[in-house]
Amino acid sequence: MTIIAAMDKNRVIGRDNKMPWHISEESRHFRRTTTGHVLLVGRKTYESWGGKPLPDRLHVIVSRTMPDTKGVDICRSLEEAIEKARSYGRKVFICGGGEIYRATLSKADRMILSYIDSEYAGDEYFPEFDEDEWIISKKETHDQFTVVYYERKK
Ligand SMILES: NC(=O)c1ccc[n+]([C@@H]2O[C@H](COP(=O)([O-])OP(=O)(O)OC[C@H]3O[C@@H](n4cnc5c(N)ncnc54)[C@H](OP(=O)(O)O)[C@@H]3O)[C@@H](O)[C@H]2O)c1
Repeated sequence: MTIIAAMDKNRVIGRDNKMPWHISEESRHFRRTTTGHVLLVGRKTYESWGGKPLPDRLHVIVSRTMPDTKGVDICRSLEEAIEKARSYGRKVFICGGGEIYRATLSKADRMILSYIDSEYAGDEYFPEFDEDEWIISKKETHDQFTVVYYERKK
């Protein structure tokens, strides 16, 4: 499972249940990377996307409150969601938000993190992690952000 996230210089990932920035190139990177695969998301993040699935991706949503909905899988625990996401036999991307990143950081074997070169006001953060547990396999520099690809050390 791969965590995918974008954070600012202070690890901010969200504000008022929205992304604090709109960086088209970063959105394109997210779309390119995740298209054709399975997205595992928390209910609040899914709602922040307008409560509709993103095109050409399967959605597994973790929620105790959302009613069952056609076209997406709603799972009542993280364990159930991980099992469901894996059952499709495709790549699984953990797409947040903060609560889900905190709960899955120890379970992911890869992370694709976009570091935005600016500072924003925010109320949701990407969790701290021990860099020593990860190998950086690639870095891509873009205009306003750098994407760092991490793999967990064996
Ligand atoms: N920058 C980025 O890359 C990025 C990516 C994604 C999200 N975000 C931002 O992150 C923020 C949202 O993060 P968040 O932490 O507030 O919410 P979240 O992680 O998206 O969703 C939290 C919700 O998920 C459900 N949930 C979590 N753990 C569960 C469990 N073990 N079992 C069942 N349900 C569970 C609960 O839904 P119920 O209340 O329905 O039970 C909970 O309220 C927004 O600002 C969003 O824009 C940023």
